Amino acid sequence: TQVFRIGIAGLGTVGASAVLMLDRRARSLSAGSGREVRVTAVSARDRARDRGFDIDRFTWFDDPVALAASPEIDCFIELIGGEKGTAKAAVEAALKAGKHVVTANKALLARHGSELAALAEAKGVSLQFEAAVAGGVPIVKTLREAMAGNAITRISGILNGTCNYILSRMEAEGLSFDVCLGEAQRLGYAEADPTFDIGGFDSAHKLAILTSLAFGAAVDADAIHVEGISAISPIDIRMAQELGYRIKLLGVAEATATGIEQRVHPTMVPLTSAIAQVMGVTNAVTIAADAVREITLIGPGAGGDATASAVVADIADIARGSGGMPFVLPVAQLRKAERAPMQLHHGG
Ligand code: HSE
Repeated sequence: TQVFRIGIAGLGTVGASAVLMLDRRARSLSAGSGREVRVTAVSARDRARDRGFDIDRFTWFDDPVALAASPEIDCFIELIGGEKGTAKAAVEAALKAGKHVVTANKALLARHGSELAALAEAKGVSLQFEAAVAGGVPIVKTLREAMAGNAITRISGILNGTCNYILSRMEAEGLSFDVCLGEAQRLGYAEADPTFDIGGFDSAHKLAILTSLAFGAAVDADAIHVEGISAISPIDIRMAQELGYRIKLLGVAEATATGIEQRVHPTMVPLTSAIAQVMGVTNAVTIAADAVREITLIGPGAGGDATASAVVADIADIARGSGGMPFVLPVAQLRKAERAPMQLHHGG
């Protein structure tokens, strides 16, 4: 049988999980696509690190950009991270060389998604990014595929596992912000630079991608009003609770008369609401739309296996030839929200 050859750049928490998952699921993936789906080449910062598999099985590349363009692969998996530098150069090199690309890199897509999508389209290859938004929650495929018949009016939810983990642990265990952040880092939830998590930027990157898919707008993280959780103290959490609320970092995009408004900020949600029950590293995304009214997806928003699950789903799509166009052509306008933080949650 023909082999669908995968090259992975970046063997951190997600990359190592993806290699093991592709091993475990090899038979099923191959049966589903009619060809043998197999990792053939890898690149990482540290070759020697123990990741639970024998790295000598794969062709090794010191340079991820060389791997990306290598004739030895059909599909390039970018798990390096970062919005520019090596990750961007490698994705561009892969697309230019006519390789399909799967990436978990929300920062890269939020900044350069539209131009990378255009490059993929010009080359007739897929650019897939289920893992870039809400970890293991299949929100990208839901929006692109399952909800195509709907006009979406609002999308909102918890898009950062690290922040939700911190807020949950501060409340439940009375721990300090820094202790909870340290835990999230040890568990492999946080970004390499956790400022992206706690500053709200990671949520904003994800929201920009969702907005583009949901409303047909340009991917533009700069059009988002962003506030993070670094100023939230145990007293804020306790006060909110006494008033019948819980503080959640929410991302919201909604259609207004003058454009799509996007914002990320700590929000007081009623203790009795569904969103208030979402604790720990879990993410939740609610889509309001004309035909189905409301759909909510809840699941693990970060971590190796959860995020690798989304990476492998994209690989499966491409291997079976159903990759599709990355982003729609922009039809809707964005409007930057100017809102005070800590507002009460209404609707959704
Ligand atoms: N740092 C991110 C989070 C990882 O905590 O949600 C998943 O994108």
